[in-house]
Amino acid sequence: MAKDNNKKFDGLFEDSKILKPSAAFAKQANIGDRKIYEKAFKDPERFWAEQAKNLVWFKPWKKVLEWKEPFAEWFVGGKLNVSFNCLDRFIGTPTQNKAAIIWEGEPGDSQTLTYRQLYTEVCKCANVLKKLGVKKGDRVILYMPMIPELPIAMLACARIGAVHSVVFGGFSSEALRDRINDAEAKVVMTASGGFRRGSIIQLKKNVDAALEEAPSVKSVVVVNRAMDPTHVPLQAGRDFWWHRLMSEVNAKCEAEVMDSEDMLFTLYTSGTTGKPKGIVHTSAGYLLGVNLTTRWIFDLKESDIYWCSADIGWVTGHSYIVYGPLSNGATIVMYEGSPDFPEKDRFWRIIEKVGVTIFYTAPTAIRTFMKWGEQFPNQCDLTSLRLLGTVGEPINPEAWMWYYKNIGREKCPVVDTWWQTETGMILISPLPAITSLKPGSATHPFPGIKAKIVDESGKEVASGSSGYLVLTTPWPSMLRGIYGDMKRYKNQYWSKFPGFYFTGDGAKKDKDGYFWLLGRIDDVMNVSGHRISTMEVESALVDHPLVAESAVVGKNHEIKGQAISAFVTLKESVKKGNGHVELIEELKAHVTKKIGSLARPDDIFFTAELPKTRSGKIMRRLLRDIAEGRALGDTTTLADATVVAKLKDQYEEGE
Ligand code: PRX
Repeated sequence: MAKDNNKKFDGLFEDSKILKPSAAFAKQANIGDRKIYEKAFKDPERFWAEQAKNLVWFKPWKKVLEWKEPFAEWFVGGKLNVSFNCLDRFIGTPTQNKAAIIWEGEPGDSQTLTYRQLYTEVCKCANVLKKLGVKKGDRVILYMPMIPELPIAMLACARIGAVHSVVFGGFSSEALRDRINDAEAKVVMTASGGFRRGSIIQLKKNVDAALEEAPSVKSVVVVNRAMDPTHVPLQAGRDFWWHRLMSEVNAKCEAEVMDSEDMLFTLYTSGTTGKPKGIVHTSAGYLLGVNLTTRWIFDLKESDIYWCSADIGWVTGHSYIVYGPLSNGATIVMYEGSPDFPEKDRFWRIIEKVGVTIFYTAPTAIRTFMKWGEQFPNQCDLTSLRLLGTVGEPINPEAWMWYYKNIGREKCPVVDTWWQTETGMILISPLPAITSLKPGSATHPFPGIKAKIVDESGKEVASGSSGYLVLTTPWPSMLRGIYGDMKRYKNQYWSKFPGFYFTGDGAKKDKDGYFWLLGRIDDVMNVSGHRISTMEVESALVDHPLVAESAVVGKNHEIKGQAISAFVTLKESVKKGNGHVELIEELKAHVTKKIGSLARPDDIFFTAELPKTRSGKIMRRLLRDIAEGRALGDTTTLADATVVAKLKDQYEEGE
């Protein structure tokens, strides 16, 4: 361990680019003993079982793991409730009177809920759900802005054993409809609107449109937010104001006794086909994974004020805004809006105002802050911070260093955390008191996690070489399947490398055994940390009456990581050149309508033909070369090599 020289964290060693944890940080850390890696590696089941004792169980488990590849059951026979673990365990202790949620609305309103107040709200909301006929196992869709009612609704579902499925508020009504139908949800909880960069997103309006073709939904509960309520039509017998229902129920609701393997939530994410997958997570293993990683990776303590700036509509918000931090009794910060509203210093103002100690955000946000300039964080007091984290995409070392210097003021460890919706919890990350950091590397698998980098034949690659990232043993918070489609689960994750979970990511291990994540190697794009499949955008484009065929690629983008480029062939009857701005705009709007603005292509390029192999497969690799302005890669497998050469010329002329 490096000697503490007055900083919480020793400086950067330019030559090796290694930053060692300081003795001061290590001294106060939740986990500082590196032997834990070895111990967990030798006997992962025993390790997980020991850690599971930190949860509150109604009934102990009989067996730690039942593994019939690829189906896992963890803590077989155990009974617990996730909502109980986040709330009831603190009631009657001093924690009950501390803030659970400090919420900041975009326009400047704010609210603080103590653990006791949160508990009361959750019990009431659980009774509302019961009153609407929601039973254990029923699915409830949550389509909400970042307001306290969202975690309240999640914890209320967990309390009665209903399965929540949060749909990010940026998804369109059509995307929402598809998710409701796939889940066959009984109830939708939403808000009239939400604020975003000063304008209002009308969520209830989207729900109304979605429900025209979603017959399973019997009731809609609407939080009054951001709009004049008299302008929000409610359908009699179906739609109810949240505040009305909450005022009509009592504040006592016992937590349902749940089996370890009872479903906690599903969350839709993009795969390699056009149809999003409902990733299934269950109760005990998921809770254990997020509870432990929050405590060890973020070094979270009850005294911390912890802010993860993700939206709860994504898995990061589920695991590291709601379930991980709350099950540790910490104070979480939630912010409703955009980082540049009203000014580009909004995040730093929030940190200063509430004294955030731990901050977790995405590389795309960091690159945006870099572009805006140091003056914004510099004018705020960020001395409360003691640890920083990043997630969602590979972080370039420049962005890492900027974050470390300008936000962490060279005294906060930066934990780069790799994981996925499917993994439930962080799987590759530093432990801040143990791991020496290399900017840009997510470092090592978490204790108890076994990861390998393999070649096409499944053989481990030599250090320094890149390959496919796989996980070789099950872990407690792993997905249990794809909702309603176990075959796809098997095919997608367990068939490419028999015996291993295939992540879809490329990675490399350096000579010191550090993992470097290289991004997706399948047809999934990562746009501003959002996962979008090329097929999803292609399907949205060909849904337009004038489009015959389309091919979509993610091209490198300085801020977003990747930006969406679409190549489109139009139907015979329409002859449009690339200068046809209106049609380009129309197609972009069409994608926004089908999916949401997060999937809106940056550029659309019309072409007479798409480059295809002799078997008819579109060669996206070559399109990526064109979009990124590179020399074309190997074209020998093309059916007609002139197509791509012509396309490249046209593209360069069109730019
Ligand atoms: O490609 C990896 C990338 O995000 C993917 C997972 O996306 P999603 O399920 O939406 O979850 C995002 C938040 C956990 C991964 O397959 N990814 C996530 N974190 C990192 C990352 N890539 C590199 N470094 C990371 N720290």
